[in-house]
Amino acid sequence: MEKYLVKGGVPLRGGVSVSGAKNAALAVLPAALLSGDICRIENVPKVEDIHVLLKAIEYLGVKLDYEDDGHTVIMDCRKIDRVVVDCDYIDKIRASYYLLGALLGARNYSKVGMPGGCSIGSRPIDQHIKGFRALGASVEISHGMVEVQTDNLVGAKIYLDSPSVGATINIMMAACRAEGMTYIENPAKEPHIVDVANFLNSMGANIKGAGTDVIKIEGVKEMHGSEYMIIPDMIEAGTYMVAGAITKGDVLVKNLIPKHMEAVVAKLREVGAYVEEFDDSIRVAYKEEYKPAKVKTLPYPGFPTDMQPQFVALMSIIGGVSTMTESIFENRFSYTDELARMSADIKVEGNTAIVNGVSKLTGAQVKAHDLRAGAALVLAGLSAEGETIISDIRNIDRGYEHLEDKIAALGGSIKRIDTDSPELTVVSA
Ligand code: EPZ
Repeated sequence: MEKYLVKGGVPLRGGVSVSGAKNAALAVLPAALLSGDICRIENVPKVEDIHVLLKAIEYLGVKLDYEDDGHTVIMDCRKIDRVVVDCDYIDKIRASYYLLGALLGARNYSKVGMPGGCSIGSRPIDQHIKGFRALGASVEISHGMVEVQTDNLVGAKIYLDSPSVGATINIMMAACRAEGMTYIENPAKEPHIVDVANFLNSMGANIKGAGTDVIKIEGVKEMHGSEYMIIPDMIEAGTYMVAGAITKGDVLVKNLIPKHMEAVVAKLREVGAYVEEFDDSIRVAYKEEYKPAKVKTLPYPGFPTDMQPQFVALMSIIGGVSTMTESIFENRFSYTDELARMSADIKVEGNTAIVNGVSKLTGAQVKAHDLRAGAALVLAGLSAEGETIISDIRNIDRGYEHLEDKIAALGGSIKRIDTDSPELTVVSA
């Protein structure tokens, strides 16, 4: 089984480039189905969740070609043979639900396995269903499959009970082809929502207000192919910013959009990290003793829940008491047990982690329960005294492209090892 072997204690120094945003690409690729044409998508991150989703899109009959070492995907969506996605691997990823909204908009029908995803909470899809029904589709869940169908989609006013990223995007995609106007109230405002809206508009949709309190969509009869570049991944960017802080190094995170990083920058400055912003990069360096902070995750533009575990890893080496309150998911602190094995002193009470900073973390054998938990353990391992072995790293492969190469380029010691092979072989430098 592949694991990470991380040797801590080396301050990371140098530049690292951010890949395309996983959570934008996971929506843009299905959205291309609405074009019924050829689309060229650039800056697609080569991560496991994207690989699984592209296999499902190919299963539907879409022809795929690749350029730029696989970061550019050319999708011929002119002939879709299937609208039922019953392949077993699709339930490994949460984003499979985007195939519902895209195919409902493109073909008035779809049937997809119930979404999977990280075990950070119940992950219901009631808001997606509420939106599809409001647009005139029937929704049936049976035998682990979600089936949506309609004679024709009609625009509606939809109020989301919670600003769900997935539901906002799914409703937006279906509404592109609904007759008349659709208003999504209380939508999510994450940068990837805006990215998907921009891509849909580039295919001929008519969407206004993405990123604001109301998204207005005027349905169109026809859409067409497009060329589009995915935005940089704000969570990958934030992860490397915290890597610079937790190892007390000096890291320049390149190819990002500073506006997307405001909440993470604010909190890094609050703990005393030195943060310098440039046009498309941000420098994070250690200049002085860190101080504790209180952080609460919120929908964008608040502090992102996907940065919560990584930031708690940083808090665990900051003297004094810091707190992290998780307001989005109900079960996103399981990784703190793993950090405790590395000498962290964290007490979880309800949806708040109370972090008593320690002078140093110590290397241990730990498990990556989910994608961002795994990222947090890598960061903790880079800071810890001694060696850390992280198992279940396929969870990290889901969302970080070339993680070990990028960290090694910053001077960090991380190797992918295969513990099933007779000698403990190093899989990657
Ligand atoms: C997306 O998940 C991201 N995943 C998550 O990133 C991210 O944590 C999350 O948005 C919040 O930013 C993808 O984009 C593939 P939500 P999603 O719908 O769409 C509740 C990562 O690490 N809810 O905004 O599933 C839900 O239970 C992953 O990259 C409902 O109640 O998130 C949660 O408490 C992890 N009903 C909250 O809303 C619904 O119908 C936010 O969920 C939908 C959601």
